[in-house]
Amino acid sequence: YNIVFVTSEAAPYSKTGGLADVCGSLPIALAGRGHRVMVISPRYVHGTAADSKFSKAVDLGSPVSVFCFGGAQEVGFYHEYREGVDWVFVDHPSFHRPGNPYGDKHGTFKDNQFRFTLLSHAACEAPLVLPLGGYTYGEKCLFLVNDWHASLVSVLLAAKYRPYGVYKDARSILVIHNIAHQGVEPAITYSNLGLPQDWYGALGWVFPTWARTHALDTGEAVNFLKGAIVTSDRIVTVSKGYSWEITTNEGGFGLHEILRDRKSILSGITNGIDVTEWDPSSDEHIASNYSADDLSGKVKCKIALQKELGLPVRPDCPMIGFVGRLDYQKGIDLIRQAIPELMKDDVQFVMLGSGNPVYEDWMRATESIYKDKFRGWVGFNVPVSHRITAGCDILLMPSTFEPCGLNQLYAMRYGTIPVVHETGGLRDTVQTFNPFAAGSNAEGCNAEGTGWTFTPLTKESMLVALGYAIQTFNEHKSSWEGLMKRGMTRDYTWENAATQYEQIIKWAFMDPPYC
Ligand code: ADP
Ligand code: GLC
Repeated sequence: YNIVFVTSEAAPYSKTGGLADVCGSLPIALAGRGHRVMVISPRYVHGTAADSKFSKAVDLGSPVSVFCFGGAQEVGFYHEYREGVDWVFVDHPSFHRPGNPYGDKHGTFKDNQFRFTLLSHAACEAPLVLPLGGYTYGEKCLFLVNDWHASLVSVLLAAKYRPYGVYKDARSILVIHNIAHQGVEPAITYSNLGLPQDWYGALGWVFPTWARTHALDTGEAVNFLKGAIVTSDRIVTVSKGYSWEITTNEGGFGLHEILRDRKSILSGITNGIDVTEWDPSSDEHIASNYSADDLSGKVKCKIALQKELGLPVRPDCPMIGFVGRLDYQKGIDLIRQAIPELMKDDVQFVMLGSGNPVYEDWMRATESIYKDKFRGWVGFNVPVSHRITAGCDILLMPSTFEPCGLNQLYAMRYGTIPVVHETGGLRDTVQTFNPFAAGSNAEGCNAEGTGWTFTPLTKESMLVALGYAIQTFNEHKSSWEGLMKRGMTRDYTWENAATQYEQIIKWAFMDPPYC
């Protein structure tokens, strides 16, 4: 197939979270299986998420005009061919600014609707006009539309191209990484999007009372993600558990009923990981390499991490880590509530994250209270995230909801035991330790499980699960080693997921376009 990923971030070019990891590695896996694959994302310049890796991409010198926001907008294209994939970057001045892809220290950019409308229009043009490696992708392609930023692609195919006979042979699959973000703006902005007036209904949305904010309290809005839900040929979420959760009242963030209507084409595919970047036996960011066959390097990573953080060097002290966006989603409130109790135990705790300034300040303040036990590293730092993943014994993820979650996968591959809230992809990927598995003997060598999941989402149940983990680490070394090895030897490659994506692509092409 000719596959076109449309995404607001793709590692290593730009990254704020797991979306970038997925769009940086799944395309390579699909290309490796013989497909022609393009990834199209913005060319961020000057931003913190952008780095020098862009330097290899060359200007294709073929700008196009797309029509939206009251006129013709000129966008350029940069291109790099790497690992079998065409990485295409949409160039426009609105992507050239400091900050991350969505905002800066003053908050979210006010013109994100404009920026990602441009991305979607440009993405629809790219397969038609860019002669990559000598020939275009053409009209018969499969768009993988990731989250709200790319959602307009599915609507544009149906409303703008197909009525003129273009893209009749194309299909689109919406991949929902996070339904909490939908691209909601006042209804009046519809006229800017470059869509025919009579397609308003696809995006138009009356949102539930709980979602109303000061800025948007009319109740009428355009909702980009909803537009893709009602126009895409298939919908995929990044784990099976999450594909069910988003059809519930509690998990659908207002879109559950619309999703229920399309349940027959909704599936869940659990993410894989980039097993080259995240490999403890070759990771260049960590103090010492190790593997399931020779775990000796792991304690060296722990000692190095304790030194780096200025914590007492104590290899025997259980060390807990957290890496993630400091956002409501990640359950930081629970950690805040639990810290006074947790700090009474003989443990060390390190958190790496950035986001909500309230949580950032809390991390700094907590560090000054528990100088010998707690470190709060405010910032976005990929090498440090590798060192925490390798150096800690336990990784805590009390996410309120988690579509897939990648950090628990990285942790397990590094022999770091995850303690997670039983939700979404966390429930699907972490199996609670069970010493009494079928046929287990006195040495527990038939035990199963790779960590602990807890529910309900309360401080108490989180502390109970952490307590089990800490006690097992302290007192049951062979059980702990079993947990580590089971996690480290699981299959995390993209192969399995890539096969499932292929199946869904095949189904999408078996039916006529949905819209
Ligand atoms: P989400 O996409 O919701 O943020 P995931 O667990 O899927 O959650 O992916 C998060 C990704 O972002 C992981 O690769 C994680 O290591 C990375 N990450 C998050 N916060 C930081 C940070 N402060 N520094 C470095 N990497 C981070
Ligand atoms: C989202 C989700 C996360 C998921 C990631 C990649 O940002 O919050 O759970 O792992 O996308 O699919």
